[in-house]
Amino acid sequence: MSSAGAVDLSVKIGALRLRNPILAASGTFGYGLEFSHLVDLNRLGGFVTKGLSREPIEGAPAPRLYPTASGMLNAVGLQNVGVRAFVAEKLPVLRKFDTAVIANVFGYTLEDYVEVIRVLEDAEGLAGYELNISCPNVKKGGMQFGSDPTCVAEVVSAARKAAAKRPLWVKLSPLVTDIGLIARSAEEAGVDALTVANTYPAMALDFRSGKSCLGNPTGGLSGPAIKPITLKLVWETKKAVKTPIIGLGGIEAVEDVLEYLAVGASAVQVGTASFADPRASQRLVEDLTKVLFEAKLFTLSEIRDKFVTENG
Ligand SMILES: Cc1cc2nc3c(=O)[nH]c(=O)nc-3n(C[C@H](O)[C@H](O)[C@H](O)COP(=O)(O)O)c2cc1C
Repeated sequence: MSSAGAVDLSVKIGALRLRNPILAASGTFGYGLEFSHLVDLNRLGGFVTKGLSREPIEGAPAPRLYPTASGMLNAVGLQNVGVRAFVAEKLPVLRKFDTAVIANVFGYTLEDYVEVIRVLEDAEGLAGYELNISCPNVKKGGMQFGSDPTCVAEVVSAARKAAAKRPLWVKLSPLVTDIGLIARSAEEAGVDALTVANTYPAMALDFRSGKSCLGNPTGGLSGPAIKPITLKLVWETKKAVKTPIIGLGGIEAVEDVLEYLAVGASAVQVGTASFADPRASQRLVEDLTKVLFEAKLFTLSEIRDKFVTENG
């Protein structure tokens, strides 16, 4: 092998083969199209869309983003165009690209999740679904779907039945007592992959005015500050299940990608890093290719699970 271009970065996530293990994360990459003049979407392993709901959602009041030490808070309020507008207006353009488009799906009831998937099932051009279960379950007093193994089993089983055509990934909430328990519940309900994890509930305020720095009282923390915590969650999930894991949280550099792979992730997603550098995901594909070429490791297999093999 004589050039970096010949390095094989392809990975399999269940039945789905990706060109490489780097995807852009939900909510940080719009519907992909907003980035297509800056990033060569065809170079990515894929990307996950902004969360899609049954009806359009206007979202939270400004400010929606607030920088914190080594991280960022957001309270976007799950703003999105709604699943029908996504299918009518965004998907036809996305079909022109040769990249895996994963639709991120959320709802406030089981029926919401099922209905969003039902609409997407009739459309062409998607590689799979990712369920965001860090949402309040209105029929259970607002408790997050993702915080209770029984609720997780219910929402995943319902989504699994609706998602007959395509792989189903579930994005776990990091704020749980035992992530292994939640992961097993999702595995038994038939998911194809687990995305670990979402943002951490957090807050920032101005003590003089007594006001939140966001339009909402609280938000979700992301970025480098969360990487060590999420890395541990990926390892714990790996020890609990056989299902492939997609790791994300604070990835900025190629070393971060390799650490996630070493603790058991099969692929990764890049979120907050795209705010500082919209080309972050493509740059990481290029850096990963270079690192593997220079190290004379022509596949990822020598790095994947290395920490798990060494430490159990
Ligand atoms: C502004 C913003 C919006 C987000 N919107 C969503 C969303 O709609 N659905 C979802 O599952 N995750 C959403 N996330 C979470 C990210 O996909 C990711 O899980 C999290 O930010 C941690 O990764 P990072 O540290 O690389 O950003 C959002 C994150 C940010 C920063």
